[in-house]
Amino acid sequence: MLLLGIETSCDDTATAVVRDGVHVLSNVSTNQDEFHAKYGGIVPEIASRRHAALLSAAIDDALTRAGVSLDGLDGIAVTAGPGLIGSLVVGVAAAKALAFATGLPLYAVNHLHGHLFAPFLERDDPPPYPFLALLVSGGHSQLVEVASPASLRIIAKTRDDAAGEAFDKTARLLGLPFPGGPALEALARDGDPRRFAFPRHRPDPGTLDMSFSGLKTAVRYFLESPEGAGARRADVAASFQAAVVDVLIDRVARAVDARPYDALVLSGGVAANSALQVAFIELGARRGIPAHIPERRFCTDNAAMIAAAAFRRGAPGRVDPRVLVADPSLPFD
Ligand code: KG4
Ligand code: ZN
Repeated sequence: MLLLGIETSCDDTATAVVRDGVHVLSNVSTNQDEFHAKYGGIVPEIASRRHAALLSAAIDDALTRAGVSLDGLDGIAVTAGPGLIGSLVVGVAAAKALAFATGLPLYAVNHLHGHLFAPFLERDDPPPYPFLALLVSGGHSQLVEVASPASLRIIAKTRDDAAGEAFDKTARLLGLPFPGGPALEALARDGDPRRFAFPRHRPDPGTLDMSFSGLKTAVRYFLESPEGAGARRADVAASFQAAVVDVLIDRVARAVDARPYDALVLSGGVAANSALQVAFIELGARRGIPAHIPERRFCTDNAAMIAAAAFRRGAPGRVDPRVLVADPSLPFD
């Protein structure tokens, strides 16, 4: 089954052609960072206009690189939400028009389901069910129990900032360029993660929920203090990163101790972080559970994962191209 994936939920104009939810024939992504960098964050209106300018060419590009034409496809998969409304509507309108004109089946995909099925891409040993996924992106941080492609349950989430958002905000405090996550990781490589003991906050003992806004605020107060003003930025970055990793790994450890899973999955943009990857793999090894992490290019937003999710979720994801509407707060299930 050959699917064209389209993903425009945030600031990446992404398209891909994927066979059977695994084999990536093409994966195109036009990053808009240079247009947003000077504002220090994503400007929704700019993102939406860039998608409109780039998407047709990105679709042609994905088809050409895959060596297929529209009539060689078996369907079109598009992110219907959650995300920025102005960005989502561009992808959804294009997918609807294509599906309507060609008669190809149209699949509406929840962006977060895309992240969950990214570890199936280009792998011949996909995670077995049931698996526990730590999904950490710019907008979301959650633990998801995946019993089957049709049965996805959020068992914990952040009470405030997402892990990626904490990286981005802290990077800004450190004077790093946007996007902050990769820049902070690069700075942290040269720092001592044990130099400063930033808080590992836990909302309350009865839950696996997370909270990161207190950590970000602690870093801000520290940087404003006399000690912080003289501190090595690399040590601050490494110590912040260590705190985020500790909190995330603690929650996964508690979840696997509470209930058996056949695999662990790490996904979302923050999954690209090497320190988190190392700690995640170590946790899997300690508990004797295989840990699956997507290739880096499939951790951050991409359209291949959207096609992968549409393939796994199957017929229930099919929608009528005349009625599909982008939903910025699309429910998880
Ligand atoms: O999944 P994603 O590409 O977009 C959303 O769905 O939000 O995640 C983007 C987030 C951003 O907050 C970015 O700073 C973070 O992922 N990120 C990282 C790294 N690469 C991307 N955070 C930490 N370390 C990284 N290497
Ligand atoms: Zn994402």
